[in-house]
Amino acid sequence: MRILSGIQPTSKVHLGNYIGAISLWEEELKKHENATGIFFIADYHAITVPHDPKQLKEAIYFILATYLAAGFNPKKHIIFVQSHNPDHTEAAWIIQTQTPIGWLERMTQYKDKRKKLKNEGKSIPTGLLTYPALMAADILLYDTDIVPVGEDQRQHLEYTREIAQRINNTYGNVFKLPTAQIRKFGAKIMDLSNPTKKMSKSASSYKGVIFVTDSNDKIYQKFKRAVTDNINKVQYNPQEQPGISNLIVILSLVTNKPIENIVDEYSHYNYAKFKEIVAQAVISYIEPLRAKIQEYLAHKDMLETSMKEGVTKAREISTPKLTILKRKLGYMTI
Ligand code: TYM
Repeated sequence: MRILSGIQPTSKVHLGNYIGAISLWEEELKKHENATGIFFIADYHAITVPHDPKQLKEAIYFILATYLAAGFNPKKHIIFVQSHNPDHTEAAWIIQTQTPIGWLERMTQYKDKRKKLKNEGKSIPTGLLTYPALMAADILLYDTDIVPVGEDQRQHLEYTREIAQRINNTYGNVFKLPTAQIRKFGAKIMDLSNPTKKMSKSASSYKGVIFVTDSNDKIYQKFKRAVTDNINKVQYNPQEQPGISNLIVILSLVTNKPIENIVDEYSHYNYAKFKEIVAQAVISYIEPLRAKIQEYLAHKDMLETSMKEGVTKAREISTPKLTILKRKLGYMTI
């Protein structure tokens, strides 16, 4: 059983990435004790929109340090950097050629990011359109069973299954069909200052985005200013109270308590007091993690050894798979 997922090193990790994705990876590994976790840093995905070369390397170290701080053991699991394994881009090329362009043009994330770039007067990189083929390669090369992700990746996972099926139908069985694992609550953590929009690294302002590197004081201030509503009751009602419902979900995930219990416990609190409770709980959750990340970042040589060992283990799985794919398509493999 293999559980695979990744994060782009576009900037720092935010609370949405952490509780929507990384903590779900932990849960999945707990559920499937004998599973191997394959967690990578999706650095080729990070250049599908304009990026800063000076920051890329640091962001890669940071994500790796975050994985280790989260407790994923690189001896037991496979942790690596995507660009260190060329099998991904090679398979992505083949997968692209098998993908009808309309499948990619209908992707919501492509349409949203394309619109944003257009509004900023920037050109649209082709990689923004073809990105899901690389994501499919990331997943399919490892005979992945489960892919734990946030809601915004659902469509990419559906595409991954569709293209795997299409290639299997055309060339004979090559790929295993993976299953997406998406949280019922917390798959889409919202921006605190704009709770109808998801918390995102590409937000125009970071007022409502909690980064794992934020100081305790900054976290506190961001929660204090979180946008709520005039209903003045702590209850789970995402339609009419998106802000307060988002806070309830966050509290539920960082304290590991069901939504109903949170609502029972805090329904009589006023918003200011409730925000304080959530801020404190998030601080307690992030503080040890932040300290561990800093410890790992102080040992870059160790991070580099870990990346090297990780990619060797990754290639032991991905290279034979790529060879099978190429043979099925009629290539000579030498
Ligand atoms: P990325 O880097 O945008 O996000 C990493 C993970 O965090 C989840 N996420 C959220 N979850 C809840 N609330 C939010 N506000 C929130 N924002 C982000 C994402 O759904 C994701 O699970 N294409 C992927 C990276 C990737 C990948 C893969 C993932 C590349 N190849 C193969 C799985 C399998 C991405 O851009 O994630």
